[in-house]
Amino acid sequence: ALVVRHRIKSSGKWARALSILTELEEKCGTPSSKLKQVADAMTVEMHAGLASEGGSKLKMIISYVDNLPTGDEKGLFYALDLGGTNFRVLRVHLGGKESRVVKQEFEEVSIPPHLMTGSSDELFDYIASALAKFVATESDSQHVSPGRQRELGFTFSFPVRQTSISSGTLIKWTKGFSVEDTVGQDVVGELTKAIERAGLDMRVAALVNDTVGTLAGGRYNNPDVAAAVILGTGTNAAYVERAHAIPKWHGLLPKSGEMVINMEWGNFRSSHLPLTEYDQALDAGSLNPGEQIFEKMISGMYLGEIVRRVLCKMAEEAAIFGDTVPPKLKIPFILRTPHASAMHHDTSPDLKVVATKLKDILEISNTSLKLRKLIVEVCDIVATRGARLSAAGIVGILKKLGRDTVKDGEKQKSVVALDGGLYEHYTKFRTCMENTLWELLGEEASENIAVEHSMDGSGIGAALLAASHSQYIEVEEP
Ligand code: GLC
Repeated sequence: ALVVRHRIKSSGKWARALSILTELEEKCGTPSSKLKQVADAMTVEMHAGLASEGGSKLKMIISYVDNLPTGDEKGLFYALDLGGTNFRVLRVHLGGKESRVVKQEFEEVSIPPHLMTGSSDELFDYIASALAKFVATESDSQHVSPGRQRELGFTFSFPVRQTSISSGTLIKWTKGFSVEDTVGQDVVGELTKAIERAGLDMRVAALVNDTVGTLAGGRYNNPDVAAAVILGTGTNAAYVERAHAIPKWHGLLPKSGEMVINMEWGNFRSSHLPLTEYDQALDAGSLNPGEQIFEKMISGMYLGEIVRRVLCKMAEEAAIFGDTVPPKLKIPFILRTPHASAMHHDTSPDLKVVATKLKDILEISNTSLKLRKLIVEVCDIVATRGARLSAAGIVGILKKLGRDTVKDGEKQKSVVALDGGLYEHYTKFRTCMENTLWELLGEEASENIAVEHSMDGSGIGAALLAASHSQYIEVEEP
């Protein structure tokens, strides 16, 4: 009798687990019809954000980039890329039309977590000293000419109210950073002061968001690039807008007639978004409650955490891991997106990878195959929703540009440059995102529209923009 009762009890638990899964699947559902509403809402918000400052959750930031790289850029330039858990310093030797990027070197430095929530001076001193070390590795031939200052493109991937191509104040932090005394400050001023403290002679020639850098880097390689999207720790997009279509821009009309807009789409929000109780709880417990809702459903910082929250609920209410909730499972952000991705891609018949991850990260052993399959399902639901929503966002941009439908005889190609760790490493996410694009646009759209991986474009892009905004005029050698 004991055995029977135990069976009934456990099958009751299993049924409960399955009902949690089914409910998750329903709530995360993204049928085409819903995604089209999301895309339309994105287009509407883009208009509102361009119309007036504060007109929308989408900040639609004017980047002051009104010319994208042409290929003529020349000289030695530095770039500094800060935006996630790592930052990179780059040295790029640009050779002009014929030689293009002659040489490119970079170093990646991870940011100690305590600096992400410390003081502004500490954070910028750390960055500037890594930059100074990197500059010290210059070879003789790499020295800029005597009397000439080194110039840097600063990729700073947070919402910044740009005041010129080389200045801008931080609106707020995102992605787990919270350095209160930087908010409201000119981040170029902060960096420049730290560069001086580090004893380095260098000028910041351009301040850009990573999406803007990726757009510039993408355009350098392909003149059809019209927009750039980052799917990484965070998510965001930038695109080329007609200056006439930016009512809130009161400055001079740029010669090119164009202006790059940093959308900050991570902060997009709409009643059409399939939000769940897990998203709401994640948001409430985050460093920036109520903000970056689109980002929290899509990007690499959060996907693993959503999965963890679902598993926690299953552990609490359906005892999937036994009578108690495994203590490690209760720790926020312990399950990172790369772990979820590894489990999601597990093709071994007995789901070995899932077992190993559960053991190594959550200290959970002896899971049944059935349970491991359930966990893969959870990863699939969460990643699929994020991938499909990001595709809807891209369709929103194409609609705004009037490039979402194939027009007869239309020759204009539109390429979207993509980058970011999520896009690069989470294959199922990437494939799903791309498939969803064609599902929404129609297969025939692939004649005019393409997505392209713009590898590490944001650093090179910043160096290219530093070159085109250099304080020195390039003189052709005789
Ligand atoms: C966050 C930042 C945004 C950045 C994106 C991708 O959304 O606010 O500026 O572009 O992450 O790194």
